[in-house]
Amino acid sequence: MPNSSQPMKAIILYDTRSVGGSTDRFIDSLGRKLAETGAYVEKAKCKATADYSFIQDFDVVIMGAPVYYLLVSSELLGALIQSNLKKYIKRKKIALFLTCGSPEPMATLMYLPQMKIHLMRNKILAEKVFAPHQLTDDHALSEFVDEITSNYDDSLTSRHASLHWSDEALEMLDMIPPFFQNRIRTITEEYAEEMGYTTITLEVVEEAKGEMERG
Ligand SMILES: Cc1cc2nc3c(=O)[nH]c(=O)nc-3n(C[C@H](O)[C@H](O)[C@H](O)COP(=O)(O)O)c2cc1C
Repeated sequence: MPNSSQPMKAIILYDTRSVGGSTDRFIDSLGRKLAETGAYVEKAKCKATADYSFIQDFDVVIMGAPVYYLLVSSELLGALIQSNLKKYIKRKKIALFLTCGSPEPMATLMYLPQMKIHLMRNKILAEKVFAPHQLTDDHALSEFVDEITSNYDDSLTSRHASLHWSDEALEMLDMIPPFFQNRIRTITEEYAEEMGYTTITLEVVEEAKGEMERG
């Protein structure tokens, strides 16, 4: 049966104009806090024109950046618009954060939608705007991390509860080398969920594979 005890693999995709600034420091704390929950975490700085195929290896994509002159930092927004990032995050679970100088409710209304408009079909596990005083507030960070991890766990539990693997499909899964098994299982379950299938047969596995190859 699907195994929810595998550690969550998360990538923090971010942008900032500063080096060693408030966003850099915040991302280091976020990475550490997530790793303490048992998650595997990497970070990557965005470039608007980079190749984002490496996203395939992660379960959760955490995106964040500062706001400069009313806009979410440009390489992150640029990546969502110009690169293949949108293709590779199609079925990923997402968490969003922003760092900015404005009071939180106003920033939530003005800045978060700049990213969310590109993520209409994604499951958003958590989203938060961090005002300057919250960037070093351990409680605010813990709340954000708890929301990501508990909503991620819930999404796995509810998926597993409603999906059934046929014996043939399970046998096929057993023949795949263990290293790839989890990935194939996740991709197939996400595909079945999206298509409204409740039983995963060999045909469903093939369909999911075809969909993955087409990208
Ligand atoms: C040039 C500049 C422009 C900024 N513009 C805004 C803005 O329009 N709205 C806002 O809420 N905060 C704004 N801020 C505040 C930054 O978003 C905030 O300080 C952020 O934490 C900076 O991240 P960094 O240290 O990684 O550069 C601005 C900061 C700078 C330096």
